Amino acid sequence: MTEAILLVGGKGTRLRPLTINTPKPMVPAAGVPFLTHQLARARAAGIEHIVMATSYLAEVFEPYFGDGSRLGLHLEYVTEREPLGTGGAIRNVASRLHSGPDDPVLIFNGDILTGLDIPALVAVHQSSGADVSLHLTRVEDPRAYGLVPTDDTGRVTAFLEKPQTPEEIVTDQINAGAYVFRRSVIDTIPAGRPVSVERETFPGLLSAGAHLQGMVDSTYWLDLGTPQAFVRGSADLVLGRAPSPAVPGRCGDQLVLPSARVASDAKLSEGTVIGENALIGEGSRISGSTIHAGAVIEPGAVVTDSLIGAGARVGARTILSGVVVGDGATIGADNELREGVRVWCNATLPAGAVRFSSDQ
Ligand code: GTP
Repeated sequence: MTEAILLVGGKGTRLRPLTINTPKPMVPAAGVPFLTHQLARARAAGIEHIVMATSYLAEVFEPYFGDGSRLGLHLEYVTEREPLGTGGAIRNVASRLHSGPDDPVLIFNGDILTGLDIPALVAVHQSSGADVSLHLTRVEDPRAYGLVPTDDTGRVTAFLEKPQTPEEIVTDQINAGAYVFRRSVIDTIPAGRPVSVERETFPGLLSAGAHLQGMVDSTYWLDLGTPQAFVRGSADLVLGRAPSPAVPGRCGDQLVLPSARVASDAKLSEGTVIGENALIGEGSRISGSTIHAGAVIEPGAVVTDSLIGAGARVGARTILSGVVVGDGATIGADNELREGVRVWCNATLPAGAVRFSSDQ
């Protein structure tokens, strides 16, 4: 049986302030910590033993997931004393693996939402005899990613991190954050110091003549690293566009957790999620947004493509579009906040303080 390592120790800086109190993999998406979707998909693919490589806010994972038996998994946790980077984290958990030297070990970034055919990636790894196999996906604008060109047999020919000039953009295939390693290759990563698997391990293996195989799988794929992507991913889970066995309810326009209270004339659409004990006021309109536990949306507010943190309050008639509101923050009535605004945890914005358009 194939086993897996999940990388969940990053600081999630691009997602701040949502990652101030909560590590990125534990931020709720479609009503449950995002990691639940990945664990459930791994289990559905036949994986039973998963080692979680933790670092930032490491203490919150085990109390929630325990030994994994609720999900039919055997989970172990290994915490780094200092963050070791993606490659260092993989090396640091090697002693917990049960696999033999030639067995395949799956490795997943903890912030990717994808419909990847996991058994197909393992099959490509086995049939090609590769040392490492990588899931590749195609994106329209590859500049923010690591490019991975391959030859006509799928063998990786280069790793190009974050290309900027048109000449550097030689392919639209990017590293999609899921790998199969031959177990013995993990032991060649240096121990006890930070290592980036993307910037050091993969290019090093390639120049040493190792066989790295790419598998392009163009199914649903989203890196949930930014607020815009996170709220999109959560909505896609609710709408059923992104596959997960762990969405707590039927897929549709909205997901309202049972303890939430929603006014009968409030309009929820486009994959909106209302978390536990949240309160949604009369006449409010919430579209494509994720409202975390205990948040309050006052009457007449209009919230679009936004993330509202736990216990935050959005005042009456306030308009939010493409905004992140940190845990416990209060936005007074009659504000208008738009694209990219991040309101910090526990901040207070008085009524009528910020507008983009005229108030008349
Ligand atoms: P940003 O700070 O916003 O870039 O996010 P991040 O910290 O999550 O970094 P990135 O998206 O590059 O990380 C990819 C995956 O590796 C994520 O699942 C992280 O949780 C994980 N990761 C990154 N650095 C470390 C580390 O030092 N230790 C461990 N255990 N995991 C890490």
